Amino acid sequence: MNLKAEFLECQKEKVKEIEGILKDFLPEETGYQKIIMEAMEYSLMAGGKRLRPMLMKETYLLFSGGEKRREDKVLHAFMAAQEMIHTYSLVHDDLPAMDNDDYRRGRKTAHVVFGEDMGILAGDALLNYAFETAAQAFDLLPEESGLIGRALKILSRKAGIYGMIGGQVIDVKKTGEAVPIEVLDTIYELKTAALIESSMMIGAVLGGASDAETEAVEKIAKNVGLAFQIQDDILDVTGSEEALGKPIRSDEKNEKTTYVTVYGVDRAKEIVEEMSREAAAMLRELPGDHTYLEQLFLQLIYREK
Ligand code: IPE
Ligand code: IPE
Ligand code: MG
Ligand code: MG
Ligand code: MG
Repeated sequence: MNLKAEFLECQKEKVKEIEGILKDFLPEETGYQKIIMEAMEYSLMAGGKRLRPMLMKETYLLFSGGEKRREDKVLHAFMAAQEMIHTYSLVHDDLPAMDNDDYRRGRKTAHVVFGEDMGILAGDALLNYAFETAAQAFDLLPEESGLIGRALKILSRKAGIYGMIGGQVIDVKKTGEAVPIEVLDTIYELKTAALIESSMMIGAVLGGASDAETEAVEKIAKNVGLAFQIQDDILDVTGSEEALGKPIRSDEKNEKTTYVTVYGVDRAKEIVEEMSREAAAMLRELPGDHTYLEQLFLQLIYREK
């Protein structure tokens, strides 16, 4: 097998493992409110690249030395929590009041299938259940409550008004306007990079990284996150609905300023490459075996979904 085929095979295995973890942490579908558990499952298990839990685990492995440890169970709870928060952000992002998109991860959006009321509540439910899930870590490893507390602080901060929600607020408020580049960069840093930073930083913290190492990880993740959003903007114009599993031309429909409207597709592609290569260079300064993570950063430059 050549290197690329080996990487793809390895990635497939990792996604499969993550899907198993997600399934394990989902709530039982029971009670008069059962429909909400079904809507959570529908959106969470729809597929998707599982990038955030993957980044969390791979960063954890850099610092934990790669062996199986007792902390692995705690890591799994945080991986599931992070993907629940990401999925809730997509469910709400697609609502008629926001981007008004009907298709996500190759399926009809949650609000189309379950109604707008349940779409809103399914997002709320995933967000809240993410914290219920992460909090299970205290029972799994009570003697590490300090470490778990640090991870929870990152998870909550990066998802909130100083992170993803803050970014979505500016994004929505600036819809239809020409947005200055500093503001656009702030939107991307918050709406998208914040959850990528959270994923990698939590992996680092749980793996035993020092504060300085966790800060270095945050910088790397910021680059990966910005590049990821710019590539998302590019694919909104050049991609196919079939590969992406979501509508194209959503940004144009919603009159969004993006890196594509500001710089054009070709320059935007160059910026994605520059930022990703910079992230890979910084990654090499960290301990552990970075082979897979580096390949992943580079794969994201050319991703088509
Ligand atoms: C989509 O995220 C939203 C953005 C931040 C651009 P992903 O492209 O990671 O979506 P999934 O998880 O693969 O569906
Ligand atoms: C949204 O950015 C990022 C989120 C926090 C959900 P987009 O609105 O561009 O994401 P897509 O293209 O719908 O996935
Ligand atoms: Mg949006
Ligand atoms: Mg959107
Ligand atoms: Mg987009």
